[in-house]
Amino acid sequence: MAKHTFFITGTDTDAGKTLCSVALLHKAAAMGKSTLGLKPVASGCEETTEGLRNADALALMAASTVKYPYDMINPITFAEPIAPHIAARKEARSLNADRVSGFVRGTLMVSKAEFNLVEGAGGWRVPLYLGQTYSEVAKQLKLPVILVVGVKLGCINHALLTVEAILRDGVKLAGFIACQVDQNVAECDAIVDTLQRMIAAPCLGVVPWLDNPDGTEAANFLDLSALELG
Ligand SMILES: Nc1ncnc2c1ncn2[C@@H]1O[C@H](COP(=O)(O)OP(=O)(O)OP(=O)(O)O)[C@@H](O)[C@H]1O
Ligand SMILES: [Mg+2]
Repeated sequence: MAKHTFFITGTDTDAGKTLCSVALLHKAAAMGKSTLGLKPVASGCEETTEGLRNADALALMAASTVKYPYDMINPITFAEPIAPHIAARKEARSLNADRVSGFVRGTLMVSKAEFNLVEGAGGWRVPLYLGQTYSEVAKQLKLPVILVVGVKLGCINHALLTVEAILRDGVKLAGFIACQVDQNVAECDAIVDTLQRMIAAPCLGVVPWLDNPDGTEAANFLDLSALELG
């Protein structure tokens, strides 16, 4: 069984990472693959009787064909919806790439899924602490990256800077998804055309603005052939 794992980053927080991750999981499942989505670090969680629960992690779990306990999907939770390193500092908890990579490695080791996704937090250079950013996790785990570009005014600059940083880190950019997060963005087609011409990686899909954002619907706009899942 060939096993594929991708790290999902975005141009920003609210770029559409979770929507596109859920869409990718649905698409891969429709191609006959078993799937698993992880959200190792989540800030912004609800207190439940079972412990803290994060909406992204729950969405990924619901969309995955392979089921594991919550703690294996989202081992590091912070209640407040704030930058992870600030949340960690406020709670006097340590957060670093070794720890995050260790959890991810553990889950991936037992994962029976053929198609695995690891959703980051925010964008490529989100800090884990002042001396390290989340990008280090993708680097340590040698995971190819899928970049979700949240299409809105200003996204071309964010996308190109992110691509530059990913490549400078020696990490493979497997592809990108353009996800229209602003219903009224002007010249959407021209923005997407620019991204396709200027990013040296395959475009895996252009997800338009959806009135009722839903991963199953968003999956219809993806084409994973460039990922060579087999
Ligand atoms: N194509 C779209 N059409 C309409 N709404 C969208 C679209 N893409 C994303 N959204 C909405 O934008 C918001 C942010 O999307 P999402 O949660 O996927 O972003 P994210 O990058 O995962 O954010 P975070 O950094 O918090 O993990 C959500 O409410 C989502 O439903
Ligand atoms: Mg998310």
